[in-house]
Amino acid sequence: MKAVRKAVIPAAGLGTRVLPATKAMPKEMLPLVDKPAIQYLVEEAVASGITDILIILGRNKGIIEDHFDRNPELEAALAKPGKEKILEQCLGISSMANIFFIRQKQTLGLGHAVLMGKAFTGDDPFVVMYGDDVIGSDDPVAGQLIRAYTQYGRPAVGVNQVPWADVSRYCSLKTTPIENNCYFVDDMIEKPKKGQEFSNYSILGRVLLTPEIYTILENTKPGANNEIQLTDAMAEYARTRGGMTAVDFVGTHYDMGNKLCVAEANVELALKHPEIGADFRAWLKEYSKKL
Ligand code: UTP
Repeated sequence: MKAVRKAVIPAAGLGTRVLPATKAMPKEMLPLVDKPAIQYLVEEAVASGITDILIILGRNKGIIEDHFDRNPELEAALAKPGKEKILEQCLGISSMANIFFIRQKQTLGLGHAVLMGKAFTGDDPFVVMYGDDVIGSDDPVAGQLIRAYTQYGRPAVGVNQVPWADVSRYCSLKTTPIENNCYFVDDMIEKPKKGQEFSNYSILGRVLLTPEIYTILENTKPGANNEIQLTDAMAEYARTRGGMTAVDFVGTHYDMGNKLCVAEANVELALKHPEIGADFRAWLKEYSKKL
């Protein structure tokens, strides 16, 4: 079995649910305290042993490339006593991993975006990290999927139980327990209507796939929202190619495509922030008295 060293981050979507913030700025660049969302994903990938990352971009997404590039003018300005730490952080961003970019010329759906990674991933297994899903965890979720893939030999999806009322916004998986937090999956459905749900286990932003998915994706017709859905291709895989493994991952999921979640994520991460955490906690306690 090949080691998993590659990740694909689709980040070409239009982000219509977080407009107007995303009119000119990608939602993947929305800041969580002092880092853009996509940096959390790259850090998670690196902490999971990933060395090569392909980011799928669309028009108006060039600032993502800039973020992972060197910035000599800024670096020169920061090369001063007292600025060593921030200079080191800025330099670190551009050397975390081998990062590649490609454009999805039309936003035809997440499944179509993943197809853009075919030449990059070649014969290798790869993790797909949905560009607007930040997951905080001491045990990086991509790494949890890699362990499940190594153990059970099947592609793996990261799931959590979501409130039943929300399943229709996500997808629903047909699961049979294997052991601990792992389940065998032999079917799934994207954005199920009431009564179509298999369970309230939904995929939340991380999947580990093998190259067989591409043949299926190439023949996947537009599904929910008239988009080529990755879930539809994974459902076909699960039904016809020996199933997948669902990992009920340990981690806190933040959906950057949802205004309420973005606000909650900023509060939670500010409370944990080493520089401002204590002051923010004190302020929040005072502020909450006014609520
Ligand atoms: P979403 O469906 O949440 O993104 O896709 P969206 O289309 O931007 O959402 P709306 O407009 O707010 O409803 C999940 C991830 O897949 C990427 C998005 O950028 C996001 O990170 N994506 C989606 C693509 O790269 N290409 C697509 O065609 C669709």
